[in-house]
Amino acid sequence: MNATITSTAHYVPEKVLTNSDLEKLVDTSDEWIKSRVGINQRHVVSDGEASSDMSTKVAHSLLEKRRISAANIDVIIIGTVTPDHPTPSTAAIVQNNINAENAWAFDLSAACSGFLYALETGAKFIESGQYKTIMVIGVDTMTSILDFEDRETCIIFGDGAGGVILEASKSNTGILGSVLKTDGSGAESLNVLAGGSKYPASPTTIKNRQHYIKQDGKKVFKFAIKRMSDVSTKLLEDNGLAGKDIKLFIPHQANKRIIEATGERCNIPLDRVMINIDKYGNTTAGTIPIALNEAVESNLISNGDYILLAAFGSGFTWGSILIKWDTMV
Ligand code: UT7
Repeated sequence: MNATITSTAHYVPEKVLTNSDLEKLVDTSDEWIKSRVGINQRHVVSDGEASSDMSTKVAHSLLEKRRISAANIDVIIIGTVTPDHPTPSTAAIVQNNINAENAWAFDLSAACSGFLYALETGAKFIESGQYKTIMVIGVDTMTSILDFEDRETCIIFGDGAGGVILEASKSNTGILGSVLKTDGSGAESLNVLAGGSKYPASPTTIKNRQHYIKQDGKKVFKFAIKRMSDVSTKLLEDNGLAGKDIKLFIPHQANKRIIEATGERCNIPLDRVMINIDKYGNTTAGTIPIALNEAVESNLISNGDYILLAAFGSGFTWGSILIKWDTMV
C-alpha cells in the first residue's frame, strides 16, 4: 500500500522584503542577488506572527480543499527548525488551533530537508496500515534566526509554509520510493550554534551573535548540487526511470544556480524544473511544499505524472522522493 498526496496548500506572510530593502541594511545590490542567487523578493512575518500561525493557515486550507474535518486527521508532522518555542512543539500548537481532536502531533528537525523527512515518515505511517490520514507541513520563520548584518545569509532566506495530506493510494501510485541521507560531519558548515543545550542563551551567546544562522556558502553550494543529484539519479535508476520521464522536478529552492545545475546533472530539461525562488527566497522546510502547491494550482501536474522532489540542508541532511501523481479526488 502506497501513500498518496490528496491535498496541497501553502501560505506566505503578506509583508514583502525586496532586494532594494536589503540594500539599505547590508552592502549588497539587487543586481548581485538576482544574478548570484535568483531572488527578487521574499515574504517575511510581521511582529507576533510565528511558524504555528503560518502552519495553521496551511492546515485549514488543506482540510478545506480535501473537504474533510480536522477530526479525520490521525497524525500531524511538522518539519521545522524555527518552532514557536523549544517546547511545546509547533505541531501541538497547530493540533489545538485546528481542533484535530483525534491526532497526535510532533515536530521533526531536518532543516531544508525537513519536509522530505516528514513526508517519508508520514508515508511509512500510512504504509503500516495503522493510520489513514496524515497531515505533513514544512514551515520556517527564517527571519527569526537571520543576522541582518550578515550579507551572506540575510539576502537568501524568507518565511513561509506549505503542506500536504497523505492517504492510502488505491492503486500502485503515490509515493513510489525515496533515498534519504544524513552526514553529521557537515554540522560546522551550516548551523545556529546557540540556544540549545550545548550553548544555552546567555549574554555571551547574544553578544557573539550565536543565535543566528551561519554558513560556509561555497561549501554548501557544491555539496547541495552533488548530493541532491546523486540521490535523485539513484532513485530514478532504482525505479527504472530516466530524467526525461519526470514531468516536474521540484528541488529545494536555495539558489537558482544550484537548482539549474542539479536539474542538468539529473538530465531533466530546464522547462520541467520548478523554480519559484525569485518570489520567496529560501524558506527552508517550506520551499518544496510551497512549490508543489503552486505547481498543482497552475495545473502543471496531472494524474499519472512522475514528480521528483529533492532537498539538501543543515546536518547535512538530504534526499529525494519519487511520486506517481494520483490525487484520487
Ligand atoms: O538551504 C541551504 C542553505 N544554504 C545554501 O544553499 C547556500 C548555498 N550557497 C550559496 O547560495 C552561495 O554560495 C551564496 C549565495 C551564499 C554566495 O554566492 P557565491 O556566488 O558563492 O559568492 P562567493 O561566496 O563566491 O562570493 C563572491 C563575492 C565575494 O566578494 P569578493 O571576495 O569576490 O570580493 C563576496 O564577499 O561576492 C561577495 N558577496 C556579496 N556581494 C554582494 C557575498 N555575499 C554578497 C552579497 N552581496 N549579499
